[in-house]
Amino acid sequence: MAAARGTLLLFVLVGVSAIVLVGGVSSNVAELERERWREKLPEVAIPQTLLARLSPLSLTQMHNFLAGLKKTNATSFDANRFCRSAGLICREDVVFVDQVGSSFTNPHEKHEENVFLDKEELRESGEIILPDLSPPINLISFLPSELSEMMPPFSSANVSQILNLLNIPSESNMSRSMESTLEMCEGRGEEGEVKRCSTSVEGMVEFVVSRLGSDVDLLTDTSVVGSGQRVTVTKASKRENFVGGKPPVTCHNFMFPYGVSYCHSINGSEVFDLQLEVVQDKEKITRNATALCHYLSDGAGANQTACHPVYGEMLLWTPKPKLD
Ligand SMILES: *[C@@H]1O[C@H](CO)[C@@H](O)[C@H](O)[C@H]1NC(C)=O
Ligand SMILES: *[C@@H]1O[C@H](CO)[C@@H](O)[C@H](O)[C@H]1NC(C)=O
Ligand SMILES: *[C@@H]1O[C@H](CO)[C@@H](O)[C@H](O)[C@H]1NC(C)=O
Ligand SMILES: *[C@@H]1O[C@H](CO)[C@@H](O)[C@H](O)[C@H]1NC(C)=O
Ligand SMILES: *[C@@H]1O[C@H](CO)[C@@H](O)[C@H](O)[C@H]1NC(C)=O
Ligand SMILES: *[C@@H]1O[C@H](CO)[C@@H](O)[C@H](O)[C@H]1NC(C)=O
Repeated sequence: MAAARGTLLLFVLVGVSAIVLVGGVSSNVAELERERWREKLPEVAIPQTLLARLSPLSLTQMHNFLAGLKKTNATSFDANRFCRSAGLICREDVVFVDQVGSSFTNPHEKHEENVFLDKEELRESGEIILPDLSPPINLISFLPSELSEMMPPFSSANVSQILNLLNIPSESNMSRSMESTLEMCEGRGEEGEVKRCSTSVEGMVEFVVSRLGSDVDLLTDTSVVGSGQRVTVTKASKRENFVGGKPPVTCHNFMFPYGVSYCHSINGSEVFDLQLEVVQDKEKITRNATALCHYLSDGAGANQTACHPVYGEMLLWTPKPKLD
């Protein structure tokens, strides 16, 4: 009896260690990605906009695709099955996304309407026009870091290899978007700006932790209440006393067949907590919002101010406030 129990225990232990070898106690890749997040950021919950973009792959699929990518003969790699199973977008019939012209990441390009808020109005009784708060949120899944590291280098010199591997025609909207994304990722950036593009959730978290440490607050706002309206500010308070005085980090989704996150932090950025009076169903209601202001050198000794609300897919990471 005791021997039988011992054998059973042995089986259980062998079973458990086999699972541990594959990746903690994860049963699928999304769980693996969550586990890695928890390791680095135990106090921070993963926001909905990211949960929706964790990899849908099973661990077995991940290992099979990894083996396929490792083979030198890539002609045997089934791009369609890879794109479909991993939640990627490898189709041609998608809109072109011009990241270089996007005003969030390139504030000198001001052609996008109403994205910016007037800094002078971020005060009690100020009036601002909220942007369209429902920009298309792309739900392209991130690859787990194992797979994203096996892809051809994330570099404009290697776009054709990525296109070939994923069976995406060059000159397509997707290939043009990819080039635009890489141009932004490889660009010099602003004075006082530190940025990084990550092709996995793990890479994004690593960048954030390298900038701010793991004691951070993460803010998102996917509400579209007040979208496009001219609204009154009823309260505005600038967040002070960030631990270490470090500037916040913001992350944006960039267009690519797999998840790409563009995260940057700019010296001298400020965060404002706002209370707004907006109209919903013909009634005035109060809505909270957060605005981020960057001060960018105009190259002639003066500063250009760029304030925008946090909304949609944006992630705002701030150091924790100091407790006095
Ligand atoms: C690559 O693999 C495919 C299918 O498995 C095969 O038809 C082809 O001959 C291989 N090419 C080389 C160069 O080995
Ligand atoms: C390419 O993108 C443009 C918008 O930038 C869109 O109008 C057009 O329909 C797209 N083409 C395809 C084939 O989807
Ligand atoms: C990346 O691009 C460079 C320059 O074109 C090339 O030499 C290299 O082989 C490419 N790497 C891969 C993995 O395709
Ligand atoms: C940001 O400011 C700090 C303190 O003035 C400075 O040490 C750091 O180099 C600046 N960062 C960049 C990217 O300019
Ligand atoms: C521009 O902004 C930086 C960073 O906030 C600040 O240190 C500097 O004094 C500002 N310069 C002018 C001319 O306002
Ligand atoms: C708005 O923020 C205030 C604190 O500034 C908080 O007390 C309140 O609960 C928030 N309202 C909503 C709807 O989140």
